[in-house]
Parts: sequence; C-alpha cells; structure tokens
Amino acid sequence: MDRRKVLKGLSLGMASLPFLSVKASQVHISEYKNQFDSNPADEKFWKKFRRDFYDVPKDFINLENGYFGVQPKPVYEAYLKNIEMVNINSSRFLRTKYSKEIKGIVADLAAFAGIDPEEALITRNATEALNIAIQGLDWKEGDEVILSGQDYFSMIEAFEMLEIQKGIKIKRVKIPLTPSDDEEILSQYEQAITPKTKCILVTHMIHLTGQIMPVKKISDRFKSQGIDIIVDAAHSFAQFEFGLKDLGADFVGVNLHKWFGNPLGAGLLYVNKNRIKDLTPLFGDSGREKDDIRRLGHFGTLSVPTLLTIADALEFNQTVTLPVKENRLRYLQNYWTSRAKDIPNVVITTPTQEDRSCAIASFKIEGKETKDVIAKLYDDWKVFTVIRFLEDQEVVRVTPSLYNLTSELDTLLKALKSIA
Ligand SMILES: Cc1ncc(COP(=O)(O)O)c(C=O)c1O
Repeated sequence: MDRRKVLKGLSLGMASLPFLSVKASQVHISEYKNQFDSNPADEKFWKKFRRDFYDVPKDFINLENGYFGVQPKPVYEAYLKNIEMVNINSSRFLRTKYSKEIKGIVADLAAFAGIDPEEALITRNATEALNIAIQGLDWKEGDEVILSGQDYFSMIEAFEMLEIQKGIKIKRVKIPLTPSDDEEILSQYEQAITPKTKCILVTHMIHLTGQIMPVKKISDRFKSQGIDIIVDAAHSFAQFEFGLKDLGADFVGVNLHKWFGNPLGAGLLYVNKNRIKDLTPLFGDSGREKDDIRRLGHFGTLSVPTLLTIADALEFNQTVTLPVKENRLRYLQNYWTSRAKDIPNVVITTPTQEDRSCAIASFKIEGKETKDVIAKLYDDWKVFTVIRFLEDQEVVRVTPSLYNLTSELDTLLKALKSIA
C-alpha cells in the first residue's frame, strides 16, 4: 500500500520535530534490500546495521530486550511524524482517512502473519488479545482448562478469575526445562486431559526461559478431541518465522511491541474464521454480524499514531526478513550459552537445540542468590538483565536484540566468570 497516497492532502508540520532530540537516521531501510546475507556471524555487517538503525544506550549494555523491542530509527521517526500528523489534522484525518488507512495496514499485517484480514483484530497488547479469547469462550461450571506454571501470569490470572466467576477448574502441567523430545511435553498434557477438558493454553515461546513449545503438535493431537487451543505467541511473533495459522490453533494472541518492533501499545488477535461467532465480546457490541471479527474489538478511541506506525515496522521486518532475524538472534544466544555452560557453577536453564530456542535464554549460578547476580551484573559490569521466577527457582533472563554485538556478550561472559 502506498501510504503517501492515503495521506495526500493532509498537513505535516515541522519536519524537524524541535520538541524532541531525535538523531535522524541517514539511511532508509530500503537501501538494505538484498544486502542481507545469511551469515549471522558477520560482525562487521551487524555493527554497521546497528549504527544505521539503532540508538543504543551509551552507559549500559541492554540484554533485557524481552520486555519490549527498541524501535529501529526509521520506525521511531515514522511514529513521531504520525503523532504530529494526527495532532495537526485531528478529527479530519480520523473521520475521512483513518479507516481506509488502517484497513490497508491490517491487510498487510495479516499477510505477514499468514492469516486472512477477516481473521485479524488489532488490539492494544497481547494481554488484551488473549483475554478476548479466554473470556470470550462459552465457559460452563466444571469445564476444565489446562495451563502450565510457565505460562504468563496475566493469562493464568484471567483463568483464575473465571474459576471464581464461572466455576471452571484449572489443571496445571509441569513443562520440563530441557526436554529431550516433544513427546516429553505432550505426555504432560495427555495425562491432564479428562472428558471435561475444554481448553489448553500454550505459550509458544516461554518468557521465562525462551523455550519454544511444540504448539502445532499440541494442536494436532488435542484439537481433534474437541479441545480449544489458545496460543500465547507474545514472544515468538516476528522473532522467528512461522505463520499464525500454521500453529493449528483457532485462537492466537500476539503483541506488536516486542519483536515486531512497533511503538508500545499494539497487539494482534487471530481467530479462525469459523470460530469468531463462538466468542462473546469483552466490550459490548451489538451492531456487527456475529462472524465479523471487529465485533470483538469495540475498544473506543485508540492511539492512532501507534497503529499507523505498524506499516513502518512491517516494512522494516519485511526488509530484514524473518529468517535473517531468526538466524542472527539464535546465533547471539548460542554465542553466550555455549560458552557460559562451561563456566563452573553456571547452569543454563534453556534448551539450546535449534528448534527449541531462539533469542531468549536463562541461567542460574549454583550457590548464588539470583538477585545478587543481577545486581552485580549491572553494578560492576553495566550489563542489564532481569530476574524471572520459574516455578520453584529463580533465573536470570538474557535477551539480546538484533542490535547487540558479540563484544557485549563477551562482557557478559567475563562478568559471569568473575561472579561464579
Ligand atoms: C509470554 C507472554 N505473554 C503475554 C505477555 C503480555 O504482553 P503485553 O504486556 O504486551 O500484553 C508477555 C509480556 O511480557 C509475555 O511474555
């Protein structure tokens, strides 16, 4: 879609954005088209890529890119321009141009996500997307849902609320940290299933350890038994390549402000066309057809500049391409985990096989308090990481982004040697 055409006739203010000190990108992402080769270890290339596209903090090394993704400069600049454009043109833009513009953006995003536009609903984040599915299903007293202790706390709490409100029953499975095969995981779900099982929630990439779950196999095995599969793809979407539909589940929730690199405040819900009618909206809507996904998204006025910028984040992802992104991120993770595992007392709590992890990994140090490890990493080495609570243990989560370099991971490794 040519956005310039849609925005034609609208005012743009001072291009210099004097109210913010933005270091403008000298390079447009399109100049990188076809320049990506498949070598994730070409540090010289990635150094230039970082210089061209990211403003990186000078006073610390950010290895906590799991919370949200730093926007590349072209996306950030587009966002600032969108804020300005919406503010200047205000209601005129919203009343005359926005619906056409966002329709095009949804169509492009849906194509990227491997779904039909009629199955895509833009939300404010993954929590909202997943709550629309979780709370929208027709729960009856005694219905059972299977969760794992490694699912995201907000989704667990949504089900705990339904436990109180509707009398549903939660069954919890234990996911092995470093499974030797998929069957080890599937058998956990198998054992928890009863004739009352209505739904399984699966986190595609576990946020605590970065483990990638065999979602397609879970869908294939249990959907045929009439069980609904809801997938939390908050961390997997745009970190590595897959189509949402290919997960085999009817409901998938995603955020766009993590690995997709959009400004904060955007998510996506996929609902299989045939299942839209089965969800009761979380926000009242009586004006649309039962199979119109927009019926589930009656949110009121939204952060329009954030949503318009999806077009720019999409362009960035399409140019870099997901296989290139995935290879580099997995390379960075393997770079530090393969070395850290040999440091005495360091235990990697992430499966490191190629198909079971990507950017995120976690570790603990035997005999050390995890909160002290985190503090030392930052205070002594200026390496920023985060503590995660993994059922009965605490781990340090390390999440490099595309802009991180191996020299920064060398600092992490030096720090680990000294702390362990
Ligand atoms: C696995 C998982 N699911 C859901 C979420 C919630 O995402 P959001 O805050 O965008 O709603 C997160 C956030 O970190 C997450 O890690």
